[in-house]
Amino acid sequence: MLKHLKEPVAEHLTNFEHFFRKNMSSGIGLLDVVTNYIIRRKGKQLRPMLVFLSAGACGTITESTYVAAGMIELLHTATLVHDDIVDEAYERRGFFSINALWRSKVAVLVGDYILSRGLLISIEHKRIDLLRVMSQAVKEMSEGELLQIERSRKMNVDEETYYEIIRKKTASLLAACCANGAISANATEEQLDALNNFGLNLGLAFQIRDDLFDFQPSGLIGKPTGNDIKEHKLTLPLIYALANSGAQEARRIRRLISRGKRSYIPRIVEFAHERGGIDYATQKMMEFNGKAKGYLDIFPDSEYKNSLLLLADYMATRDR
Ligand code: IPE
Ligand code: IPE
Ligand code: MG
Ligand code: MG
Repeated sequence: MLKHLKEPVAEHLTNFEHFFRKNMSSGIGLLDVVTNYIIRRKGKQLRPMLVFLSAGACGTITESTYVAAGMIELLHTATLVHDDIVDEAYERRGFFSINALWRSKVAVLVGDYILSRGLLISIEHKRIDLLRVMSQAVKEMSEGELLQIERSRKMNVDEETYYEIIRKKTASLLAACCANGAISANATEEQLDALNNFGLNLGLAFQIRDDLFDFQPSGLIGKPTGNDIKEHKLTLPLIYALANSGAQEARRIRRLISRGKRSYIPRIVEFAHERGGIDYATQKMMEFNGKAKGYLDIFPDSEYKNSLLLLADYMATRDR
């Protein structure tokens, strides 16, 4: 499915790989060892895809579209390197994470390096407008991750706070993909606004899907499962299940979560299923997915728009 919906921008995505690699190399031995490791294990590249498709839907893919896509994928990569340190996760994209192989010291610095390279691309190409959108997203991502840590510590996350967390830590970047794609194509205000909202809702659905992965058996998605539970991160399935169970049961499950033992995970997962948390989260995800697609109504039919619609569905049904 992913291959099919890439078609309208396949050539651009191939060129993009070269652009991306060039912008990651440094000339410093240790850095290049690590960045080469990262390049060889690239992810799904959903964000560059979103940038190119958004630009296409607005009219034309330009040189600046590459700048936008490059910045975003670098930033995304940097946040994953940092996120795995924060989450103490030792697997990423089916392989060892950077902190697992080189320890946190190196991972922190490599993450910073990649982040700064991402921001620099826009300066080198004199695109402050793209930089403004990106910097805002980076700021929100950090806020989102910190809000999550603060709330996880006390385990008090209600549904509204959960949406605020995922809007900041994930949806803001996907919205930035669409917005910067649009800006790079000289979109109208109306198009820019619509794509920004599309990305935001898409991002909420995307993170709910990601959070649902945590309740799956491990070994299927290339990163650890059960890790959110282990880190006391209350995500939508558990938030709903806890709010819809008896006081005594909720207390018992909260206690299990707060002990953070891997051996408790299957019981907690079962509880989320039994109390309808998985179904509820799936339903909410589909709501955001539908809302996202609605924002594309203003665009005339095109192969780009069609792929954006397919990409939205892929994000809500993907299995990795
Ligand atoms: C993972 O994003 C981080 C989240 C925001 C959930 P992706 O699932 O897009 O990661 P890669 O780039 O494909 O590995
Ligand atoms: C999304 O949160 C991470 C970022 C915003 C970088 P997660 O912690 O759920 O992401 P994964 O599951 O590790 O990819
Ligand atoms: Mg993580
Ligand atoms: Mg996750």
